[in-house]
Amino acid sequence: MNNNPQSIADFRELARRRLPRFVFDFIDGGSGSENTLAENRAALDRIRLLGSAPIDVSDCSQSVTLFGHDHAMPVIVGPTGLAGVAWPRGDIDLARAAGSAGIPFVMSTAATATMEEVAEVGDGIKWFQLYIFKNRDVSLRLVSKARALGFKALEVTVDNAIPGRRLRDARNGFSLPFRWTATKLASLAAHPAWSLRMARAGAPRLEVMAAELGLQQTDTIAELMQSQLDPSVGWEDIKWVRDVWDGPLLVKGMLDPGQVAKALEIGVDGLVISNHGGRQLDGAVATIDILPEFRSEAGSRLTLLVDSGFRTGSDIARALTLGADAVQVGRATLYALAGKGEAGVRQALSILKSELEVTQMLMGARRIQDFGPAMLRTHRSPQSPQAGLFTPGGAQAASSLSLVKDKQPKTML
Ligand SMILES: Cc1cc2nc3c(=O)[nH]c(=O)nc-3n(C[C@H](O)[C@H](O)[C@H](O)COP(=O)(O)O)c2cc1C
Repeated sequence: MNNNPQSIADFRELARRRLPRFVFDFIDGGSGSENTLAENRAALDRIRLLGSAPIDVSDCSQSVTLFGHDHAMPVIVGPTGLAGVAWPRGDIDLARAAGSAGIPFVMSTAATATMEEVAEVGDGIKWFQLYIFKNRDVSLRLVSKARALGFKALEVTVDNAIPGRRLRDARNGFSLPFRWTATKLASLAAHPAWSLRMARAGAPRLEVMAAELGLQQTDTIAELMQSQLDPSVGWEDIKWVRDVWDGPLLVKGMLDPGQVAKALEIGVDGLVISNHGGRQLDGAVATIDILPEFRSEAGSRLTLLVDSGFRTGSDIARALTLGADAVQVGRATLYALAGKGEAGVRQALSILKSELEVTQMLMGARRIQDFGPAMLRTHRSPQSPQAGLFTPGGAQAASSLSLVKDKQPKTML
């Protein structure tokens, strides 16, 4: 493989070669049998798009407005903790590249840079991802800091009541700080560029959490999260965040459309439909499959973002047709970060934008708002009794997303 990636898949391959195995596995892996990790991709791949030529697409735009701010495309660089293991100070590179691409960057509570450092990077829009800790004062301080530092929106992650069982990390003994075994040391020797960068920069630290929580040096990531995150978190805690944060508030990690009413009642502004990239509930539904039910429940009352498995502009188009306002990416930009630092992330975002533009023009959607469920078919598996193509909106083109839920067969899930 050459060093000129043309797709996120190329960047994944570059990351696989450039990172020690235990680091690549931490980023790439999922939980349990990795069933959901695989299903996220399989579900996206089942969807077929319609190219509606001839339509005049000489004047196309990917721009989108979220919470009153215009962005260059419907993509957000989502929160990924420990980005510094991919590239020293990786959070800062991700923030700068997102800003240059004209899209928001979501800083993780588990970042390896401080909130001040990220807030100061460029003039791009930054959001903050919040964990609700057992010690609510810590979360409250983070909310106050996010407001003072100019973070524009808050994403509260709720799918971490307990860390998913990440078997690759357990097998590799992945911990922070790194514990050096013979296998890990051999892996270092085989990846001298990464090792040199880390040696120069010093081992990554969970800067935000370390400052607030006095972390133990011996914690594995899973033990650390389990010791700090509060499994009792419920909607009353989201209400508490709503009361202390007056900006746009999103809840991240939603998979049950039955919870939409509660989110609306509390005054949440948006949801991130997410299975944490297949890293939490193994066996969870693919987010693209459940997205239409969320849109059907929410109508236009909530901003809906989706993540988990999105790797191409064509994937993003699939989400837009099924009712998402924008897509968050996690690994797509992490692979690029691991491969080439900030330059890699810029390149990855430029690839996603070009891919989306090509898909959009070939589908005949001049504007992002033009995407709708009539523009796709779902390919059933050959084992299905009615193998073939399914039209979410029925035989006539569906002009309303509310049709999607009623017509959607359960087999899609
Ligand atoms: C290495 C890694 C670290 C992550 N850390 C966080 C985190 O700190 N907070 C959070 O809400 N989600 C975290 N996520 C989940 C992502 O925000 C996102 O939901 C997921 O990566 C989307 O799937 P994708 O990687 O297939 O795009 C992390 C994901 C990865 C891969």
